[in-house]
Amino acid sequence: ELTFLHRYEPATTPGRPPLLLLHGTGGDENDLVPLGEALSPGAALLSPRGKVLERGMPRFFRRLAEGVFDEEDVRRRAGELATFIREARAAYGLAQPIAVGFSNGANIAAAVLELHPDALAGAVLLRAMTPLAAPPTVDLAGKPILIVSGAADPIIPAADVGALAARLRKAGADVQHETLPAGHGLTQSDLALAKNWLERRT
Ligand code: MLT
Repeated sequence: ELTFLHRYEPATTPGRPPLLLLHGTGGDENDLVPLGEALSPGAALLSPRGKVLERGMPRFFRRLAEGVFDEEDVRRRAGELATFIREARAAYGLAQPIAVGFSNGANIAAAVLELHPDALAGAVLLRAMTPLAAPPTVDLAGKPILIVSGAADPIIPAADVGALAARLRKAGADVQHETLPAGHGLTQSDLALAKNWLERRT
């Protein structure tokens, strides 16, 4: 019995790394499946549903207000997600996945990278911010990470995501940070950037 409700799409093209799809607030396990299919056609897709409910909307960790996180819960939930990844890899015979997270899903992916670096091969963080004020020192040597921000994102201050990029880089990750003329929502340019990056980096 795997510990997250999830959707799993087996690979149809061998050799592509599996994608771990992490939805935003109010999404579910189906939300990002079309995005995953577009980003890496034929790759295995593993898409859990966040277990925390905020007024009925699934998320991956609790927050006290928009952009103000319950860090104890972030740590606990990142641990649960790392366990799920391990269990799902064993159950489905998967290689280490690349996370593709949007908004709250990007934030939990960043927390998993900083707390459980062995869980992920890399990550695409779409509209991410810093999940933890003071994460432990971690070794992310060689892990490819793409961060895509929106210049007009009303939720995420540029300095905050800049600090996240700097921190991941300092930990040794191979970070590419792009800022699009966009808001918090995803655009075709996000898709194009992420697809191109996945083709080159994985
Ligand atoms: C979060 O709570 O993770 C961020 O505020 C992004 C969001 O989910 O709106």
